[in-house]
Amino acid sequence: MARNPASISPTAHYTGYTWFAHGMSHPALVTPQGKLMHTALRPLHGLATITGAPTLQAFLLARHRLIDHLLELAIKEGRVSQIIEVAAGLSPRGWRFKQQYGDKLRYVEADLPDMAQRKRDLLQRAGLLTSGHEVVALDALADTGPLCLHALADTLDAQRGTAIITEGLLNYFDTPTVIAMWQRFGRVLNRFPDGLYLSDIHLHNANKGVGVQAFKAMLSTFVKGRVFLHFDNEAQAEAELRNARFEPAQLHDPTRFANALNMAMHPGANAVRVIEARTHQTRHG
Ligand SMILES: C[S@@+](CC[C@H](N)C(=O)[O-])C[C@H]1O[C@@H](n2cnc3c(N)ncnc32)[C@H](O)[C@@H]1O
Repeated sequence: MARNPASISPTAHYTGYTWFAHGMSHPALVTPQGKLMHTALRPLHGLATITGAPTLQAFLLARHRLIDHLLELAIKEGRVSQIIEVAAGLSPRGWRFKQQYGDKLRYVEADLPDMAQRKRDLLQRAGLLTSGHEVVALDALADTGPLCLHALADTLDAQRGTAIITEGLLNYFDTPTVIAMWQRFGRVLNRFPDGLYLSDIHLHNANKGVGVQAFKAMLSTFVKGRVFLHFDNEAQAEAELRNARFEPAQLHDPTRFANALNMAMHPGANAVRVIEARTHQTRHG
């Protein structure tokens, strides 16, 4: 199902500010919209913290840090040196990873044309774009045409291990759309010697209970539309990823990584799962 991007993009400003507020971003990636939304939600966040209710911040930070961690492992193990971050919004990950790994890494941030243009302008104006770091226009739902992922993959080095990341994207789309997206990602990543797909996802089994229902309602209001939960549990999602030519495919509960990430997991952190799904050319051809 095609959602109006105008209903999704404002959340990129909010999460962009969240990354900054927690010391993970650069002031150049802060927008007035993001700051305003953050200020508006602060009382609700304060109330939830006092009452021990789940907070948006808890799962946002958990997912962001765990995606970083899994990406870092893949880079350090030599499995990945090219990254396509789909729906990157105002995320600082591209800038942070390029700062850390420099020329060893090619990092392509991709988003719908308006957001890509805005991100490129912000990075360029602040002098944060280095060689091997680009921001391009892409539609994650397109199978053909200049905005499709295959066209972008044609511009990459076919000999390098490649990762695709989606963060904060899947739950805006219904199940057939997400499955089609995974099939697309699986086809593209199988073109490279090693492939890695990282993403957050919310499941039914981790989003039950009155508190979480209220939380979901708040999230839906916030994103001006329904938030989709596609699968009942981890096994269903993993099976669907295997159908899309990923093997192995695993969903992680971020709270199990509290030690590795050296972070406190607050209520709400276990509402999200992080997908780590791989492809390997010699197995799938
Ligand atoms: C919730 S924001 C997440 C941004 C960023 N990944 C983060 O976590 O801060 C969702 C992003 O998805 C982008 N988006 C929505 N539909 C898209 C599509 N069909 N293709 C690519 N990006 C899309 C929006 O423009 C927006 O930047």
